Amino acid sequence: MPDRLRVLLVEDVGADAELIAHALKRDGFDAVFERVYTEADLTARVASFVPQVVLSDFSLPGYSGMAALELVQSLSPHTPFIFVSGTIGEERAIESLKCGASDYVLKTNLARLGSAVRRALERTAERTARARAEAELAEAHQRQRMLSRRLIRAQERERAELARELHDEVGQAFTALKIQLEMLRRAKDPDETSVRIDECADIVASALSQVRNLSLGLRPPQLDEFGLVSALRSHVERMARTATIEIAFEADPQIGRLHPDIEIACFRIAQESLTNALRHAEARRVRIVLRINADTLALIVQDDGRGFDVHAANEKALNGTSMGVAGLQERALLAGGFVKIESEVGSGTEVVARFPLKAPGRTAPGSGG
Ligand SMILES: Nc1ncnc2c1ncn2[C@@H]1O[C@H](COP(=O)(O)OP(=O)(O)OP(=O)(O)O)[C@@H](O)[C@H]1O
Ligand SMILES: [Mg+2]
Repeated sequence: MPDRLRVLLVEDVGADAELIAHALKRDGFDAVFERVYTEADLTARVASFVPQVVLSDFSLPGYSGMAALELVQSLSPHTPFIFVSGTIGEERAIESLKCGASDYVLKTNLARLGSAVRRALERTAERTARARAEAELAEAHQRQRMLSRRLIRAQERERAELARELHDEVGQAFTALKIQLEMLRRAKDPDETSVRIDECADIVASALSQVRNLSLGLRPPQLDEFGLVSALRSHVERMARTATIEIAFEADPQIGRLHPDIEIACFRIAQESLTNALRHAEARRVRIVLRINADTLALIVQDDGRGFDVHAANEKALNGTSMGVAGLQERALLAGGFVKIESEVGSGTEVVARFPLKAPGRTAPGSGG
């Protein structure tokens, strides 16, 4: 049964209250009524009865309708307040509306009451809906600002890491190479020359591999050349070489080239989810699966590790610098998809990302390659 409309009557005359209740019932309202006529009772009932509409007489013995209006507005500003009075001149009616009353109805014309209440309730519902929409918009803006802040921090962190690796690893290698070349220039006998050349070749080989790793970390060239499956397979193979747990990779053979936004988003989500599983899960096994059907690409990253509280991790990430779990959703959204993370402490984690392939304006460039 739907909730009945809660109507609070500020009315000292019992017979009038009955007429008002009768008028509303006749107009199809299923309502419950409470009646008060003192300030103390009004204060108490607004709190305990939580009326959806207040109908008030204008003149009350020892109290006044205008005072009641002011009180209700201060206690419950969104509750509509309608004067129902036998004596309300035009001037006072205008004054009451100015003070925030929703409407006024004469006791001699109670046939208008139903439509007045209905309109007031509709206006309140509209205001509530508008306020909710505004709050949601403000929250979205707030989220956006936090996201931008996190993105900038993550970008700075990545740049700092890159600068450090270039300086420490590649820079060191070139310094060593320079020293070796100086010594080579001064080398007298062929044996020493040969040793120096070998050392130079070793340094160059190691610097090359460092640069290769750096560039793979920044953006795997396979992704652009051969697509998602190939890039993800070699990423998994590279990770598996140093990991102590089993990492399995499966992909539907019919997955060809996809829109670049989907390929990069899916790759990054898989990369982050795998890194998280290796770093945090204490799993025995991680499984990465790519599935495709006519209209969706699905990525599943599953581990059998210790699981975690996804909601708490998201909340923490919103205020911090972590781009991990919270960033997955944003990555997916940017490519038109979405991510669902299911994890329970003690029973592993499953990250599922889905990307619709038939979004408007989304066609795979150079498909078939
Ligand atoms: N597969 C997983 N198993 C268990 N815990 C996880 C898993 N993935 C994430 N977590 C938990 O969620 C937290 C947040 O993960 P998130 O990826 O956002 O941050 P992070 O990995 O700590 O840092 P980064 O920003 O470098 O990714 C982790 O610190 C970890 O406690
Ligand atoms: Mg992480």
